[in-house]
Amino acid sequence: MHHFHYVGPNLHCESVDLAEIARLYGTPTYVYSAETMADNYRRLAEGLSGLDLQICYAMKANSNIALLRHFSNLGAGFDLVGGGEIKRVLAAGANVKSSVFAGIGKTEAEIQLALENGIFSFHVESEPELARINHVAGKLGVKAPIAIRVNPDVDAHTHAKITTGKSDNKFGIPLKHAAAAYEAASKYPNLTIKGVQMHIGSQLTSVAPFIEAVRKITPFVGELKALYGITYFSIGGGMGIVYKDALASGAKVWWDAQPADQRPLTPETYAAALVPLLQPLGLKIVLEHGRFMVGNSGVLLAKVEHLKRGAGKNFLIVDAAMNDLVRPAMYESYHEIVPLHRDSGRRALVADVVGPICESGDCFAKDRQLQEVGEGEYIAFMSAGAYGYTMASRYNTRAMAAEVLVKGGTFELINARETFEQQIAGEKIPAFLK
Ligand code: LLP
Repeated sequence: MHHFHYVGPNLHCESVDLAEIARLYGTPTYVYSAETMADNYRRLAEGLSGLDLQICYAMKANSNIALLRHFSNLGAGFDLVGGGEIKRVLAAGANVKSSVFAGIGKTEAEIQLALENGIFSFHVESEPELARINHVAGKLGVKAPIAIRVNPDVDAHTHAKITTGKSDNKFGIPLKHAAAAYEAASKYPNLTIKGVQMHIGSQLTSVAPFIEAVRKITPFVGELKALYGITYFSIGGGMGIVYKDALASGAKVWWDAQPADQRPLTPETYAAALVPLLQPLGLKIVLEHGRFMVGNSGVLLAKVEHLKRGAGKNFLIVDAAMNDLVRPAMYESYHEIVPLHRDSGRRALVADVVGPICESGDCFAKDRQLQEVGEGEYIAFMSAGAYGYTMASRYNTRAMAAEVLVKGGTFELINARETFEQQIAGEKIPAFLK
C-alpha cells in the first residue's frame, strides 16, 4: 500500500498536490512519500517482531541522505556497498555500527573506512577477500567482523539481470564450498566469524524461493553456530512490489479484491512463512530489503513536450528520459504512467511514451493506453522510488533530476536539480590543446 491517490481530479502524494511540486521545482523530479516508507518499514518490523531482528535497508535502491535519516530514525541500519555509501550513511548522521558491508570488490581503503567507523559486519564473497580484510584489520590492530555470503543455488524466478542466488552468478560461495571457506576464515588472526548471509535475487513476487533457500541453508547455519558461535543470519532482500497496477495497489480494497493465490507478496505473508523457519535458529536475523522499502514510495514527475502523431503510431514525448529512469530501457520493466490531472472527458490515447534522448532505447512504454495529454501537462511514472535516481546518469548532458520528500501536507526539496556548472566542474581543457 502507498500514499499516492487522486483527490478529485488531481494526483496527490499524501496531502500534497503533485502538480504544485512540478510547478515549483520543474520536471523531471522524483517525489517520495515519507509515510509510505515508514509504513513499509513498520509492517516488515512488526511482521517479524517474533525474531531478534535488524533491518538493514539496502541503500543502493535509493541513497538520498534524507531517506537514510528517515530509515535510521525508524531503527534501520544499512546494507551498503562501497566507500561512497559509507560516507552517505555518515553524512545522514546515521549509524554505520548497525550496517553491513556487501559487494564483491571491496578495496583496502573501503575496508579501512568501514572498520574505522565500526561496521557491524562484512559480507564476504570470496576467499581472497578474507585475506584482504584480515590484512587491513591487522594494520589497524583490530578484529574484523565477518559473515560469508553463501550461494544456495535457488532459482528466484525473476529477471535474469537481477537473479543472484544461482550457482552461475558471480555472487557468494557455493554451499558445498562454504564449510571450507569458513574454516579458512577461522585461521585468520584478525577476523571474527560473526554470521552467515544469503541473497537470492530481487523483485521476487512469491515467497516460495525464500522458503526454499532458507530451508536449504538452515542445516549449515546450525553447524556454523555449533562450530564458530555465529550470532546472526542475514537472509538478504528481494521482496518484490506491484508495478502493473501500481496506483490502485495503494488501496486496501485492491489487495482484498485479488484472488488469494494471486495476491502479490506482502510483508505479512513473507513473515508468516519465514518466522517459523527462522525462530528455532536462535540467531539475530538481518533483512536487507531495498525495493520493498522505497519502490512504491516514489514517483517520477515529467512534463509532456509534444504529442507526435505518426503513421500508425503516436509518440508521447516527455521531458524525462532513460538517463533519469533507466529500468524500462535496461530491464524492459513496466512502470505505470498516469496523468497528474485526470479528466474523464478526454479521449483515450495509445502511444509510445518516450524521452528526448537520441536513441531508440529511450522509451518508457510501448503502445500504452493513456488518457490524452497535451503539451505542458504533467504525468507521473509510478513505483519509481527504487533504483530510479540511484541508477540515473547524465547522458546528453542532462542534469540529475531534483528530489522532493513529502510528509503529510508539507514537502521539502531534498536534492536540488543539478546545474550545468556542477556537471562540468571537474572537467578541463589540457594545456596541450590550448
Ligand atoms: N542485498 C544484496 C546483497 C543485494 O545485492 C541487493 C540488491 C539487495 C540486498 C536488495 O535487493 P532488493 O530488496 O532491493 O530487491 N537495479 C535492479 C535491482 C538490482 C538489485 C541489486 N541487489 C532493478 O532496478 O530492478
